[in-house]
Amino acid sequence: MRIDLLTAVPELLTSPFEYSIIKRARDKGLVEIHIHNLHDYSNDKYKSVDDYPFSGGGGMVLTIEPIERVIEKLKKEREYDEIIYTSPDGEVFNQKMANQLSCQGNLIILCGHYKGIDQRIRDHLITREISIGDYVLTGGEMAAAVMADAIVRLIPGAISDEVSALTDSFQDNILAPPLYTRPAIYKGWKVPDILLSGNDKQIENWKLEKAIERTKLLRPDLLKDIED
Ligand code: ADE
Repeated sequence: MRIDLLTAVPELLTSPFEYSIIKRARDKGLVEIHIHNLHDYSNDKYKSVDDYPFSGGGGMVLTIEPIERVIEKLKKEREYDEIIYTSPDGEVFNQKMANQLSCQGNLIILCGHYKGIDQRIRDHLITREISIGDYVLTGGEMAAAVMADAIVRLIPGAISDEVSALTDSFQDNILAPPLYTRPAIYKGWKVPDILLSGNDKQIENWKLEKAIERTKLLRPDLLKDIED
C-alpha cells in the first residue's frame, strides 16, 4: 500500500509515522508513506499556497494551483483508489472505513489548512471527504495522521499478533474487554480469578461477556447498529 499526504505544514506529519507499529510496517515494506509539501509546488516567488477568499471574511484559503500540480504529478506516476480530503464537513471516519481503506492500493490524503481549500479542488479532484469527528482542528494534518494510523495497522503483517487487530474495540461493533497484566495483585487490587484459571474456554466467554457489558454501558449505540 502507498499513502501520499499533501500538506502545507509537513512538519506536523513527520513524527506520527516514525515510531512503533507504523514505522515497523514501513520498514517491512508493507506501506510507503510519502509527505509532499504544497509549498514545493507553488510557482510564485514567495512559495505561497494560500490567498484571501473572494467571499471576504476572515481566514485564508489554500489555492488551486499547488494542489492540482502535485495531484496531477502523482496521478501520472500511478493510479489512485481514492483522493481524500480531510474536512470537518466530510463523512465521519470509523472502523469500517479504516477496514475498507486498508484494502486499497494507493491513497492520496490532502490535508486542509487555514480556512479550507478552493471548492473547485473538491469538485474536480477529490473522490472522498472525511472528518474524524464533530469538532474543528486547526488543520487536517492531525486528522490525516489519525486516519493513516488506523488504516496502516490493519494491513496484514503490520501487527505481529494478527489476532490483535481483529479483537480491537469497534472491530465487531463492540468495545474490547478490559485487559490485565502482571502483577496479579497490586496493593490489594486483584486481577479477576477467571483470568488466572487457565481455562481458555471460560476466559473467552468472560471476555465476550465483559465486552458486551462495557458496550451496553459506554456505547449502547454500537449495539443498536448490530440490531439494525
Ligand atoms: N480539519 C479540521 N477539522 C477536522 C476534522 N474534524 N476532521 C478532519 N479534518 C479536519
